[in-house]
Amino acid sequence: MEITNSIKYVGVNDHDVDLFEGQYIVPNGMAYNSYVILDEKVAVMDTVDINFKDEWLANIADVLGDRKPDYLIVQHMEPDHSANIKNFLEVYPDATVVGNVKTFTMMDQFFQLDPAVKRLVVKNNETLELGNHVLTFVFAPMVHWPEVMVTYDSTDKVLFSADGFGKFGALDVDEDWDCEARRYYIGIVGKYGAQVQKLLKVAATLDIQIICPLHGPILTEDLGHYIEKYDIWSSYRPENEGVMIAYTSVYGNTKKAVERLAEQLKANGCPKVVVSDLARDDMAECVEDAFRYDRLVLATTTYNGDIFPFMKTFIDHLTERSYQNRTIAFVENGTWAATANRIMAKMFEKSKNITVAETSVTIKSALNEESCAAIDQLAKELCGK
Ligand code: FEO
Repeated sequence: MEITNSIKYVGVNDHDVDLFEGQYIVPNGMAYNSYVILDEKVAVMDTVDINFKDEWLANIADVLGDRKPDYLIVQHMEPDHSANIKNFLEVYPDATVVGNVKTFTMMDQFFQLDPAVKRLVVKNNETLELGNHVLTFVFAPMVHWPEVMVTYDSTDKVLFSADGFGKFGALDVDEDWDCEARRYYIGIVGKYGAQVQKLLKVAATLDIQIICPLHGPILTEDLGHYIEKYDIWSSYRPENEGVMIAYTSVYGNTKKAVERLAEQLKANGCPKVVVSDLARDDMAECVEDAFRYDRLVLATTTYNGDIFPFMKTFIDHLTERSYQNRTIAFVENGTWAATANRIMAKMFEKSKNITVAETSVTIKSALNEESCAAIDQLAKELCGK
């Protein structure tokens, strides 16, 4: 695949991965992107997952013909991109590895590289001339590891954005960008909004025509759309108006309450209602939806003096990703000691700018007149009525 006359795609598609980064289901696989820049000097941008060593090296050889790479630029040391550094150097021992101080610390931890390997240690904003192409390295710590840097090619106006603007899904599957990019971003980079904001401010000063991420498609058109999404996600602003109801239910009574609430929300004109069963639905998709909408209802049972485990995990996912700027409401079910609402509220104590709905719902075992009335009241409150 040709990105520009002198930038070629040499990445791979992975349809065998069971859980990306050990936890994310990827129904449409995963792409590990890598690029070659052909100039007076030749640079390879990042490697790929360890299982694709041969395919990746063959892709590089195809593009190079009888040339040899001068540089291997390492933007990110997470093994989905760095696993083949040593394998690359076995084939191309004369190539210089380019990274920053932190990159090389990690590289030595992972590979104990031969001291004879040629290293070019770059500083933030340092440039590397390949001939016609001039690359500028912009450090982007915690997007999403501390050593991450992105690379701007001012000649072809390409931003090599590391994990930024990446998504789940292999490149040979056509699917909506927003959905799987959002699930990827919130899950993997969501905690580091401030760092992404910083990077977006730098990006705004550059003339960018093409974005080449390490996962997902190369972005060549309507870049404003993707940048706007990143701005919304990284500033923790809700993306859409709507209510997400996340619940757990042991015998179906909490589920009945949630179904009633969903109906009442729709009856009161709520533009969008999303209902997720935390025990059965993809947790990363649930987390994504909680960040997507401006209102969230959490419904669960008291369990072992605490709350039901899937709900506990879900709230941990939210708070550790700096969940903020939303309205939340609580629904609890307990047969003899209904304390879930108090426990859930406490879990958000340190979260910024959270408005807790005045109405909370307590169910004693099963819905009755009183709890139904509370649900109807909550629906009205969440719809501003
Ligand atoms: Fe795609 Fe942070 O690795």
